[in-house]
Formats: sequence, C-alpha cells, structure tokens
Amino acid sequence: MQTVTALPQLRQAVDELRGNGSIALVPTMGALHDGHLTLVREAAKLASHVAVSIFVNPRQFGEGEDLDAYPRQLAEDSAKLEAEGVALLWAPGVDVMYPQGYATNISVSGVSAGLCGADRPGHFDGVATVVCKLFNQVRPDMALFGEKDWQQLAVIRRMARDLDLVLPHVDAIHGVPIVRDPDGLAMSSRNAYLSPEHREAAATLPRAMDEAIARIRDGQEAAPVLAMLEDQLLGAGFGRVDYAELRDADSIAPLAADNGNARLFVAARIGGTRLIDNKKVSP
Ligand code: PAF
Repeated sequence: MQTVTALPQLRQAVDELRGNGSIALVPTMGALHDGHLTLVREAAKLASHVAVSIFVNPRQFGEGEDLDAYPRQLAEDSAKLEAEGVALLWAPGVDVMYPQGYATNISVSGVSAGLCGADRPGHFDGVATVVCKLFNQVRPDMALFGEKDWQQLAVIRRMARDLDLVLPHVDAIHGVPIVRDPDGLAMSSRNAYLSPEHREAAATLPRAMDEAIARIRDGQEAAPVLAMLEDQLLGAGFGRVDYAELRDADSIAPLAADNGNARLFVAARIGGTRLIDNKKVSP
C-alpha cells in the first residue's frame, strides 16, 4: 500500500493505478472499524484498486462538537488497510485540504434540511465540500459510503448530480448496508466513547426502532408510535432524543405515514455520545 500526504504524489499514484484498472474510493475520517472494512471489501469486489482517504474534516464539525476528541490512529488504521490489500491511502493534513486563503463552500439544499442538517448546522456543507474535493483529487471510478449516514449519502448523490461530477461506474455513489454488532447497534467510531453501561443501554436504540417499524407497518399512526419510541429511549438511559422521524428514503421529505418508500431516522444522545441510526420502514 502506498501512503501519500501531498497532492503531487497523489496525482502520480492515481495515474499509475489508473493505467492499470479502475479505482474505488472509500472516504473515511479514520478510527476504522468493521463497518469501514466492509466498505473496503465491497470496493475490492467492484474495482481493480481500492483507495482509502483518511481525513478528519474540521468543516463538518460544529462548535462544541468532538473535533479535538475525535479518535486519530493513523498507524493502526494503516495496518488494517494494508491487511485488506488497499492500494492507496490518501491522508492529507488540514493545510493540504484547506490551504491558506481557502474560500469555497458547497451547500446542498433540500435533502440536507432537517434531521442531522437541523441539529448540526453547516455539517452537510462541510461533508459536500470535502467529498467534492476528494472526488477531484482522487478521480475515482466510484466511491462507497455507509448507509448508516443515509442523509449524507443523499446529499452526496445530489451534489454529484448537480455539479456534473463524472464518476464513470454505473453505480458511482455506492451505498453499503449498515454493519451492526450482534446486539443490533450500528457500528460507529463514536461507539468507542461509550462506557460499558451506556454501551449496553445503547442496544435499546435498534430494538425500539424495530418495534416502532412493526407498529407503523401494522397501520398505527406514526406520531404516537414515534413518541413511544422516544419514551423508550429516555427510559433506557438516553439523555436526549434529537429526532425520531419518518422520512422519504430518497427526497428525505418528512412523512406522516408510510408512503411506500419510508425510512425511520433516529439520533439520540447517551452519556454525551450522539448515536444515529436509520431503518427501512416500507416492506
Ligand atoms: O462519513 C464520513 O466518515 C465522513 O462524513 C466523510 C464522508 C468521510 C467526509 O468527511
């Protein structure tokens, strides 16, 4: 695996790989867990070479968020990627990604409204901006993202369409299903912040979502079912529920009832850690 931290070396490395097949990019912020490695393995099935980026992107963290505390473990991450047969690790510093004088921002409206877009103002601008830059830097044939960040995936797909970003693969912005621990909790780098008690209580989140989905599928009205879901989480030790909402899976528009393309989205905080999850509602 070649690790590069500067743009001229990246261009050279990408040119060499490109002369020799297709490239799938897996953008990450590091602290790699099995969820990320699933993306890497999926990428290896779809392209000749896998490139991974590790960049903790300051522009997608709001004030008071965990930018400084965000786990940074490049040596450990690098060993994991090497073992997966990754061809290229792109690990730029902040000064390379946003050199002095940097002044451009990409803002995607519509799909970024509500949910995490409401709770974390500017977050999706930061994501869209860095992902657009990563696409331009690595020029991949395709890129893979986890469906745990479903709204992020919708924002990136919209941005790529709107800005005519050309990624040649037919399924260029490829979503990969959520990887869950045996108790159902979606894998996340932030799970590392949970104490053993909070980790155990956190498994209430996917269970309560499944119950809510079963009720909505049974024809119960969404609003009282979602209120019940919130009470369940607060009763299990969550300190706050940021949102528990039914939305259209593609447009991310709010729904009062299942429209045949519905997804349940939840963000809730436990012991200071914000967990998000989403599940398909429509059978
Ligand atoms: O999902 C993430 O880890 C980040 O939001 C991404 C896509 C790597 C952009 O920084």
